[in-house]
Amino acid sequence: MSEPIRVVVTGAAGQIAYSLIYMLSRGEVFGYDQPIILHLLDIPPMMEVLEGVVMEITDCALPLVVGVVPTADLSVAFKDVEAAFMVGSMPRKKGMERKDLLSANVKIFKEQGEALDKYAKKDVKVLVVGNPANTNALMCSKFAPSIPKENFSAMTRLDQNRAQAAVANRLGLRINQVRNVTIWGNHSSTQFPDAFHASAQINGIWKPVAEALNNSPWLKDEFVTTVQNRGAAVIAARKMSSAMSAAKAAADHMKDIWHGTAPGTYTSMAVLSDGSYGVPADIMFSFPVTIANKQWKIVQGLSVDDFSRSKLDVTAKELLEEKQDAVALCQD
Ligand code: NAD
Ligand code: LMR
Repeated sequence: MSEPIRVVVTGAAGQIAYSLIYMLSRGEVFGYDQPIILHLLDIPPMMEVLEGVVMEITDCALPLVVGVVPTADLSVAFKDVEAAFMVGSMPRKKGMERKDLLSANVKIFKEQGEALDKYAKKDVKVLVVGNPANTNALMCSKFAPSIPKENFSAMTRLDQNRAQAAVANRLGLRINQVRNVTIWGNHSSTQFPDAFHASAQINGIWKPVAEALNNSPWLKDEFVTTVQNRGAAVIAARKMSSAMSAAKAAADHMKDIWHGTAPGTYTSMAVLSDGSYGVPADIMFSFPVTIANKQWKIVQGLSVDDFSRSKLDVTAKELLEEKQDAVALCQD
């Protein structure tokens, strides 16, 4: 068995954490032979609830969990962590857009960025889940200047999983018979779910999804709007935001960072733009990436036609606006 690693989950008494902690504890992310010490952060009024979560972790009798540290203290929560799941924040309610959460949540990520900077390992991998995830991740990284910017990412994997499932359903295929569906841009209703570079395995042969669907207009209209609005649809039905699927996506995202992407495949995550695909630099924009040795690289050279270009521009513009608002909010 390897040495244990310290993993923090913020918002540990909340909905997403309730599913996520179990996935982490089972070994699904860091490996079935990797012991972990779970650092569980929430706010002081949630400490009693968190105590109940800790009781349940104990009662699961999980061999890989060699320590649990429930706390409301940032200096304890982030001490020596190698992986951080930044979930803790307010979820949106029916009728809100995710960016409406900026004023409620961005300062959490400023403060926790500062704490990561002070207390975490310098090679910590930070995944921001709390909304608006892209801009929270940007601000979190700005307030943690001693940690490489590349170590921060925001989650668009839930959107990718939704898009992959939608394509698989449309084609009557299993989920792993569809690959390389990409989410571009913001985790918001301006995101661009792109299946034009995706492939589907039909009768054992991989072919472009567009070809498999006979270039159906569905790929440009209903598919795009369904994925863009899926979070709102879940809230309308469940009266709470997605949690099980969000936890699964967070686990998928960190697992890919830890173990890399499979040959011939890539995944979507929001990372600091370097100007690839004409996207403005210094925003957290979701790109297709490959990962090896815990380092991501933006996939280059995918074709972007006029339709896709206009979609990329809309979502980039929204992220620039969010960044401006976030910078102003963090100056207060
Ligand atoms: P929840 O309300 O069930 O849980 C959030 C938890 O965070 C609560 O226990 C709360 O006390 C805690 N919290 C609040 N402020 C905190 C702080 N400063 N430090 C530590 N903990 C704090 O919400 P949830 O359903 O778990 O969702 C959490 C966030 O994830 C929301 O912002 C939601 O919109 C977002 N989300 C993102 C995605 C994505 O795809 N990126 C998907 C689903 C949900
Ligand atoms: C989701 O995509 O389900 C989450 O971001 C929650 C939300 O507000 O949509």
